[in-house]
Order: sequence, then structure tokens, then C-alpha cells
Amino acid sequence: GDESDLVIRPPVVTVMGHVDHGKTKLLDALRDANVVDKEAGGITQHIGAYQVHTEVDGTDRRITLIDTPGHEAFTAMRARGAQATDIAILVVAADDGVMPQTVEALNHARAANVPIVVAVNKIDKPDADSTKVRGQLTEYGLIPEEYGGDAMFVDVSAKAGLNLDKLLEAVVLTADASLDLRANPTQDAQGLVVEAHLDRGRGPIATVLVQRGTLRVGDSIVAGPAHGRVRAMLDEHGKEITEADPSRPAMVLGLSAVPGAGQNFIVVEDDRMARQIAEKREARERAAMQAKRRV
Ligand code: GTP
Ligand code: NA
Ligand code: MG
Repeated sequence: GDESDLVIRPPVVTVMGHVDHGKTKLLDALRDANVVDKEAGGITQHIGAYQVHTEVDGTDRRITLIDTPGHEAFTAMRARGAQATDIAILVVAADDGVMPQTVEALNHARAANVPIVVAVNKIDKPDADSTKVRGQLTEYGLIPEEYGGDAMFVDVSAKAGLNLDKLLEAVVLTADASLDLRANPTQDAQGLVVEAHLDRGRGPIATVLVQRGTLRVGDSIVAGPAHGRVRAMLDEHGKEITEADPSRPAMVLGLSAVPGAGQNFIVVEDDRMARQIAEKREARERAAMQAKRRV
């Protein structure tokens, strides 16, 4: 494909921050209020990644949220050299202020060269001081727009559902201002495994994030050391989908094994090739492990 095949893809966002500052609550609130196709399937499953949407300047815009506990998956993915995230939402509780893991998260995002949007959370609390949070982060060089810097800060309450749309709008505006999020949906898919597990009835299930191209049911894929034909794909509602375009997370059924978070997947010509590549990868990993043991 050439330039003309490129289309804007939604930003992929990770939520980071100090323990108990409200990462999980915020992700839950965003999902409940803004998940795409809410009517479709009732209860949202825990899928590790899902899309939400919001209106910005009269246009419906999507955002992909990666829902992982703590920074573990983010760190695991980075350790594998995988860049899953386009933007980080840094959650800081307004009653608690900047804490050690806030700074750690900030440093992670900076090391990955990922723009940061700050969600100053828990503003419903009587002792909330969002001005103090702005001052503290300014000292770390993360300067709010209203102070002449380039980071967007949004006061929110995950508990009361305050300013969630504003937060999503800030993510979209940050993406538009500082990132070129275009991808080619016409090529063969490739992307990342966000999480995976073994389901008793259905076998290995991997939540994948498509980064380029479009993934389709029936495609032959290699995901880490696993391979297989995509037997079925599910969205965040557990509803069957037939394809997933760039930035779209999907649960994939049909793999031979459970791949690891942060491993990449690619679509290849056919099953035989998928198996060959997977076997080569496995042999390579085994050799690397043995070499490590010898040291
Ligand atoms: P870890 O995953 O353990 O690091 O915590 P977390 O950052 O995911 O925080 P979590 O969402 O579990 O929230 C911690 C506590 O803060 C819970 O008791 C939440 O109900 C509470 N909380 C989260 N957001 C808000 C908020 O906006 N206002 C108030 N008052 N409480 C909140
Ligand atoms: Na917690
Ligand atoms: Mg949590």
C-alpha cells in the first residue's frame, strides 16, 4: 500500500499511576459510560483492552483503552521491545498528590516517548487539591497547558463520573496534536498480544491489539510461539466479530498455545507457514534459554 491507503486509527491508551489513586475505578467508569456498541451484548467482559468513544468537535472519535493491572503489562511489553501505547493517562489522586509510583509511571511514559494526559482524580473529596497536583508535576517538568506547558490536565472523579468526556477529549486532542496515528487497513494484520489465557472449553484465547492491517476470521497467524487459524473473534461484549481493523482489540480463538503479553502476532499465507514460523520461534527461544542457563 501507499500513502493513500493510510487512515487515522484510534489512539491506544494505558492508565498508570500510584496504588489506589483510582486506575481501576477510572477504567470501569470510562467503560460503563463510553463503551462502543453498549446495547449489543449486555455485560462487558473483562477483556484487557476495549474501545470507548466520545464526540470531539462534532465528530465521533474512538479510543482504545488497555486495561491491565498496574504497569506490569506495560513494562512486560516494553521489555519485549513492544510499543503498545500511544498515550498514557497518568492518574493522580487529588487528595494524596504525587507519590513514588506517580513519578515511576511518569518516567516509564517518558522513556517510551509517550505523551501524557493527567487525570487529577477524586476531586469529589473534600480534601482534594488539584492545584497542588499541578504544582507538584510542574516540578517534575510535566507542565499543564494552563501554565504554558504542553500537558493537558483534567480534573475528574471516577467515582462520581465527573469530566470523563473531557478526559477522553483531552486524549484525542493530544493525539491529534502530537502523534501521526495513521495505519493501513488493507494489508495483512500484525500487532500485539495484550493478554492470553487457557479457557477450559475454548482452548487458548488471546486478546490481541491490531496495529496494522485488518485481522479476519480464517486468517493464519503466528502469535509468539503459538500458531493457528483464527477460528472466531470476539469483541469486548463477547459478541462474535469477523474482522478487526487498526487499534481494534479482539479476543482470538484458534491458537495452538497461549502466547505471552507483549509478544507480537502476524498474519501469514497459510497454516503450514504459520506452524513453521512458530516452530522456529520456539526453537530460538529454547536456545536462548539454554544459553542463559549456561552463563
Ligand atoms: P491499584 O490497582 O491497587 O494500584 O489501585 P487503583 O489505582 O486501581 O485504585 P482503585 O480504582 O482500586 O481505587 C482505590 C480506591 O479509591 C477505591 O476505594 C475507589 O473506590 C476509590 N476511588 C477511586 N476513584 C475515586 C474517586 O474519584 N473518588 C473517590 N472518592 N474515591 C475514588
Ligand atoms: Na486499589
Ligand atoms: Mg487497580
